[in-house]
Amino acid sequence: MNDPGPRRRFVHILWFDQLDSTNTWLLDAAGTGAPEGTVAVADHQSAGRGRLRRRWESPPGSGLLASILFRVHLDPTELFSVSALVTLAARDAIAGEIGVSVGAKWPNDLVTDNRKLAGVLAETRGLGGEDVAVVVGIGINVSWPAPGPEATELNATCLESLCGHPVDRRRLLEAMLDLVERRRHQLDVADGRASLLHELESVTVTVGRRVRVQTSTSTLVGTAVGLDPRGQLIVEVDGVQRVVSVGDVVHLR
Ligand code: BTN
Repeated sequence: MNDPGPRRRFVHILWFDQLDSTNTWLLDAAGTGAPEGTVAVADHQSAGRGRLRRRWESPPGSGLLASILFRVHLDPTELFSVSALVTLAARDAIAGEIGVSVGAKWPNDLVTDNRKLAGVLAETRGLGGEDVAVVVGIGINVSWPAPGPEATELNATCLESLCGHPVDRRRLLEAMLDLVERRRHQLDVADGRASLLHELESVTVTVGRRVRVQTSTSTLVGTAVGLDPRGQLIVEVDGVQRVVSVGDVVHLR
């Protein structure tokens, strides 16, 4: 690949000792005109948020907790492509920088050996308007949880226990932002958005697995067969394809 030159867009990095949540902070900043490419990072979050209104906990300095602001003209049905872009950039940065290969778990986790390494949370401001702000937050476990009862209990892992040496969070962030910028043009055209989803599907270890999916209204048990064009999970249950937009997936066997 040609050298893309210095990064231009995702360069406005604000690194805080502590915030309530980098997503909350950046959504507020988006409301007062922060430009695309603004990145909020915190060593610690007092009210970190995960999907489905869960909390995201991480001891101070032990994770890469970052949120990235995109301003895009997208239909709400296409927004999954933005979080897919960040999930892919994170996966590739982890492979390139640390030499650890991880898969995606639907919708937006990075996992290895069925243990969670990172989670992504995309939130919007101004949906339905001309200029939608999409904030994609990512939490990557860097030095916590170490192998042991806590990691087992949480079913989680961290980069340092996978690679066996200290990981520089700033270098990892810079590598990820380089890859975000390199892929950013894909959001501007339908083909690019489709290929983001195809790429994510190809690294999603959920696909092809027997799964149990808990939605707000039901539990499905079946085989995950792919992602639809909106990034929703297609699960085959007794020969019938069901589409899941929001839910918790457990990989069975
Ligand atoms: C999940 O797995 O449920 C998603 C977790 C997302 C956590 C990150 S940490 C940085 C950003 N700020 C937040 O409050 N949440 C995201």
